[in-house]
Amino acid sequence: MQFPDYRPRRLRKNEKLRQLVRETTLSAGNLIYPLFVGPGTNVIRPVSSMPGVAQLSVDRAVLECREAAALGIPAVILFGIPETKDALGSEASISDGVVQQAVRAIKDNVPNLLVVTDVCLCEYTDHGHCGLIKNGAVDNDSTLELLAQEALSHAQAGADMVAPSDMMDGRVGAIRRVLDNEGFDQVVIMAYAAKYASGFYGPFREAAESTPQFGDRRSYQMDPANTDEALREVELDIQEGADIVMVKPALAYLDVIYRVKEQFGYPVAAYNVSGEYSMIKAAGINGWIDEERIMLEVLLSIRRAGADMILTYFAKQLARALA
Ligand code: PBG
Repeated sequence: MQFPDYRPRRLRKNEKLRQLVRETTLSAGNLIYPLFVGPGTNVIRPVSSMPGVAQLSVDRAVLECREAAALGIPAVILFGIPETKDALGSEASISDGVVQQAVRAIKDNVPNLLVVTDVCLCEYTDHGHCGLIKNGAVDNDSTLELLAQEALSHAQAGADMVAPSDMMDGRVGAIRRVLDNEGFDQVVIMAYAAKYASGFYGPFREAAESTPQFGDRRSYQMDPANTDEALREVELDIQEGADIVMVKPALAYLDVIYRVKEQFGYPVAAYNVSGEYSMIKAAGINGWIDEERIMLEVLLSIRRAGADMILTYFAKQLARALA
């Protein structure tokens, strides 16, 4: 059909018509809300580079989870800030570590909320890298057992889902084997499958106190120039047992989200990371953009690209905006 028989504007005339033909939906039910959990009680330590985000003690994290659940958000993902750091990231897998405590407290108090845990060493190591250091480099194979033990300790605390974000080769398989051997075959693995070495993580590293003390993460996180490689990474993680595959960051990598969804048809998560959040917040606070409108547009674009779920610091704000 051609103009004047076909007039696309006919279906844009009013909101009811627009609603009927809307192709993509965005709802609180698509969101996973990231929380930073640290030591102490009644602690709220704002993260200066992420307005509205704070490091929380376990009791405060529970309150935040109650609010999130009441807003219809189905899941949170927890990042731990330990008391002490060492070369091996020892606190990552102890049974009374901060994340393990938080998982138990949240499952006790907000049982209907899904609890996901980030599995990585960078918040726990004194050098800030995501794996063990051998001869000045991040060693792959010796890191796998530590990650598996960390994931196991999260499962033992009651986590519904573990999310390895380290980008070591073979870690999804290593985690799946240990979980299955220990009776946790129902714990879901959400793999940070295509995770890029990105400048957009800057504010997170302040929030999680996980800045590498030497070098950078380019020897394990992906080169921003590559997409074919992202598909290989995703394929490997699926073969090793990932239930959900993640692309991270989201906004500058919408093409990757699209290709991953097209190629595999697997559940896809996208991480709307700290830098993406802070840019919108900063411009909003300055009055340069309409913050709420841009938030909705950006998160919708991530869904449109093919993401089933979005990890975002905007979770509560979005749920309120949609309510
Ligand atoms: C830990 C991890 C990072 C993020 C999630 N898990 C930081 C990094 O890899 O340096 C970033 C999340 C964000 O920026 O919001 N490996």
